[in-house]
Amino acid sequence: MPHLIAPSVLAADYTNLKKDFDMVNQSKADWFHVDVMDGRFVPNISFGMMIVEAMKKMATKPLDVHLMMVEPEKYIERFRAAGADVITVHYEACPHLHRTIQQIQATGAKAGVALNPHTPISVLENVLEELDLVCLMSVNPGFGGQKFIYQTLPKVKQLKDMIIVKNTKTLIEIDGGVGLQNAGALLEAGADVLVAGSSVFKSENPTLTIERLKNIGQEALTD
Ligand code: DX5
Ligand code: ZN
Repeated sequence: MPHLIAPSVLAADYTNLKKDFDMVNQSKADWFHVDVMDGRFVPNISFGMMIVEAMKKMATKPLDVHLMMVEPEKYIERFRAAGADVITVHYEACPHLHRTIQQIQATGAKAGVALNPHTPISVLENVLEELDLVCLMSVNPGFGGQKFIYQTLPKVKQLKDMIIVKNTKTLIEIDGGVGLQNAGALLEAGADVLVAGSSVFKSENPTLTIERLKNIGQEALTD
């Protein structure tokens, strides 16, 4: 399967969101990555379901909603109703992770679990087969524009191995500090979905940056 590109709209222009949504709609991107922050799980606040609902009206591609919040189980149905296609919760915020995954899937959304940079892959050992997606955080969640934490790379390989051994269809998503400089290595290690905020929206030509990220690894096929 060709890899997916999910521009993170956290880095979009909030004085003209429609323009940035149109750009992504018309680009080679696959999903919109939507970061919800509660000011408790992470030291930043972004927006809630009302804005997600408005985003859904502008988007012609799936919304990949990343819930950086405590007690996400209280709001899953409402984010689904707002238009989330993928709902990702944090391992670190879910004492009853298995139940929360089932709750997400019962709404019809795909279920993801995100791991902070310090959280080892091994915590997913007994739940991996239930998951549609694992999001490996390659920065500490809360802010866009941070530096990629290089220890993420071996984690991608470890997770890929676990997925192969267990023969699951789980997608590996990488979130934070991803751009043209490290996308190749991440894909080679086994990544399926690349989230890119600043590297897309702060670039001179966001449409072209998305296309370049999408084309990485494809050149060999056409040579
Ligand atoms: C970080 C968010 C990311 C963020 C990535 O807490 O989860 O999705 O938007 O932004 P960049 O690509 O700028 O690191
Ligand atoms: Zn995110």
